[in-house]
Amino acid sequence: MTSSFSEEVRKQVETQLHGGITIVVLGASGDLAKKKTFPALFGLYRNGFFPPKTHIVGYARTKMTHEEYHKRVSQYIKVPEVFRKQLNEFLAISTYVDGQYDEDASYQNLNKHIEKIENDSHIADGHKNRLFYMALPPSVFIPVAKGLKKNVYSRGSINRVVVEKPFGMDLDSSRRLDKELGALFSEDEIYRIDHYLGKEMVKNIMTLRFANVFFGSIWNAQHIENVQITFKEPFGTEGRGGYFDEFGIIRDVIQNHLFQVLSLLAMERPISMSAEAIRDEKVKVLRCIPPIVVSDALVGQYGKSVDGTKPGYLEDDTLKNKQSVTPTFATLVAWINNERWQGVPFILKAGKALNESKVDVRIQFKNVAGQLFKEVPRNELVIRVQPNEAVYMKFNNKLPGLSFQTTISELDLSYHRRYSDLRIPDAYEALILDVLRGDHSNFVRNDELDVAWTIFTPLLHELETSKVKPIEYAYGSRGPKQLDEFVKRYGFRRHQEQYIWPIQNVDGTGSRK
Ligand SMILES: *[C@@H]1O[C@H](CO)[C@@H](O)[C@H](O)[C@H]1NC(C)=O
Ligand SMILES: *[C@@H]1O[C@H](CO)[C@@H](O)[C@H](O)[C@H]1NC(C)=O
Repeated sequence: MTSSFSEEVRKQVETQLHGGITIVVLGASGDLAKKKTFPALFGLYRNGFFPPKTHIVGYARTKMTHEEYHKRVSQYIKVPEVFRKQLNEFLAISTYVDGQYDEDASYQNLNKHIEKIENDSHIADGHKNRLFYMALPPSVFIPVAKGLKKNVYSRGSINRVVVEKPFGMDLDSSRRLDKELGALFSEDEIYRIDHYLGKEMVKNIMTLRFANVFFGSIWNAQHIENVQITFKEPFGTEGRGGYFDEFGIIRDVIQNHLFQVLSLLAMERPISMSAEAIRDEKVKVLRCIPPIVVSDALVGQYGKSVDGTKPGYLEDDTLKNKQSVTPTFATLVAWINNERWQGVPFILKAGKALNESKVDVRIQFKNVAGQLFKEVPRNELVIRVQPNEAVYMKFNNKLPGLSFQTTISELDLSYHRRYSDLRIPDAYEALILDVLRGDHSNFVRNDELDVAWTIFTPLLHELETSKVKPIEYAYGSRGPKQLDEFVKRYGFRRHQEQYIWPIQNVDGTGSRK
């Protein structure tokens, strides 16, 4: 099955890009390119997803020779020795051009470099396709887009531009950015990455919901009490506080990544699998969400760890404002005013420097009616995005034997146990492949971005202007002490019985840990 899928995808890519494609990575010496873009490009190359005549051109300000560049790229990719031959082939199609981000001459030079590649590989007019991957800080976004459009745009062929957050700081700045970018490239040419949409379990949400009749029928306010979407990171800003401080956790994680998950969980069934059909439904459900209010928010900032070995946020050397009130933790509640979701709180939790690394969705169902069983815990469906992808359902079962007591058990689909030879591609790999196929389904449309900002901007502005002081929590803890009380207000009930999901280890043997 997998191989026929790969065949089909290869065909799709080749039909569109049979003349070849030049992938230009702008910001080739930056952090994103290093950690994500190049490893993902190599992954696609290695799996044979590049059409014939694919070339990769790195562009950045750093001056370096081709040898130095190749050495760097090899270090970014970090492949085991068995892939050495493929890595060398990959390097053979990779070249580098240095230049400024705001200077026509630099872009003309880049264009000449690409033209030469196209001429040397005998690519015909109309097939000089180019993909511009902007692995860049937001400050140079627009100057680069302008320089590309003016000097490097390939007229008469396919051009695609990949951009990544931050897409502005609030509704106004996002609209400005969108207007400027929209004046240069059409919406069809723009691919806004939210890498959560490339994650396996996020892509699985639609399948779970719409390919299973039993989930379909209980997916509403009549059966669901609350929905929690949680993001926990075990480390702090660690020297990147200067960057983080401008944004904070709400912009960094909740407004984009967690909200994308929310829209997939909450949208109605799209009329087809086409990108526009899916994105239409996402926008529709987001339009039913009123702006999040301060009274539905709990914000925190991490301090020193309890043992004093880990520094607090304000001790980060790169932080300019030592009195910063930027949240590193937030729990916000969104309400969806439509027939399906009226009255069901969507609790969005995200934090840095917490006690563990985890992203999951927890759907808690209503209490069982009647008096037959006393105090049985609620059913929960958990979709674990990372680490160790899994879907499991907590349900009540009779304690085996002579007793009539109930006990919690689970229907458990742990990917590592169920699917042997599992290789889940990195989100970026999946997304860049989508760009090559010209599929926008897993990218953010401009109106989607606009509604998301509409929901968050009043809250962000109020937190900033009234300088709401975040609650301090210890590095490595569970977050602010008030958290349990806060989520209880929205009807979330923690199980009394200490329940431990049994499959905790990666090897999938099922032993309790
Ligand atoms: C590529 O070929 C075109 C058409 O033959 C020519 O105009 C252009 O100067 C060539 N560019 C380079 C950089 O060789
Ligand atoms: C972190 O805290 C949560 C409670 O919020 C707890 O369930 C979990 O087991 C803790 N994780 C670790 C690794 O201790």
